[in-house]
Amino acid sequence: MNDAITMLRADMRDEHAAIIQYLQHAYAIGEGEEACEIEAIARDEMRHLRWLAEMVVELGGDPTMERGEVDGSGAGPVEWMARDIAAEERAIAQYKEHIAAIDIDNDNPRVVRLLKRILSDEMAHKEAFSGLAEELAEEAAKAEKAAQQGETISPRVFEILNQGVRHEYTVILQYLYHSFVIPHRDVGRELDMQAINEMQHMGWLAEEVGELGGHPRMEHAELTLEGDTTAMLEADIAAEREVTRVYGRQIKELEDADLKALLTRIREHEIYHDELFNDLLEQVQERE
Ligand SMILES: [Fe+2]
Ligand SMILES: [Fe+2]
Ligand SMILES: [Fe+2]
Repeated sequence: MNDAITMLRADMRDEHAAIIQYLQHAYAIGEGEEACEIEAIARDEMRHLRWLAEMVVELGGDPTMERGEVDGSGAGPVEWMARDIAAEERAIAQYKEHIAAIDIDNDNPRVVRLLKRILSDEMAHKEAFSGLAEELAEEAAKAEKAAQQGETISPRVFEILNQGVRHEYTVILQYLYHSFVIPHRDVGRELDMQAINEMQHMGWLAEEVGELGGHPRMEHAELTLEGDTTAMLEADIAAEREVTRVYGRQIKELEDADLKALLTRIREHEIYHDELFNDLLEQVQERE
């Protein structure tokens, strides 16, 4: 059984890496059908991550928020698709291995069934990425030309947007982990929903970076994972307060009206999160 947990945790790390790798590519490609298709694949991987986490918890293990290796190399969409095809090939091989290993020594048909379900997605993804590689080959030349014509953007703008990406990525992981392990189901569900909202924020900010001709930096800050429900909610509230202050300063600093509006919208969501988490904290404390 411990072996199964170890394998599932390894699979979680790789799903996490795949999500980030694919999102990075989708953001860099920007708007359009291909980017949407890549994002949809990343969403499949998010579902995989959640299913694996739930299975780890069910088996008595701790779901990991660590990330496997992201392949950040490649000079453009066509090369990126080749990296993503390779990632799917590695995933396919690994799931097959894990299915075989878990199948042999037991008695855990539900784990095997889950991994087979995920495996079928990964095979479809590999095909999808191959198709995208062809489509993107045609568009690559066009995109490169547009990037060369791009105006000069202040490095500070990229810094602000990337700080936002970093914050959003951090809280996505933190809230997801909390949603996986918090015993209060209603609190967990709420955190899961707000994590999805933070994914939207990360997407909006990273897409701006891509559209302005930069590269979103997908690195997260330190996560506050430990503690009981109260400690987790307190950490989440602290994160919201801090980022509300930071976004507030940055809105004043930015000159572009669209970027100001984007950050203002995100900041309003963060204020809502702060209030929502405070309500949850009060409810939890009343119950205890
Ligand atoms: Fe996949
Ligand atoms: Fe956010
Ligand atoms: Fe938030």
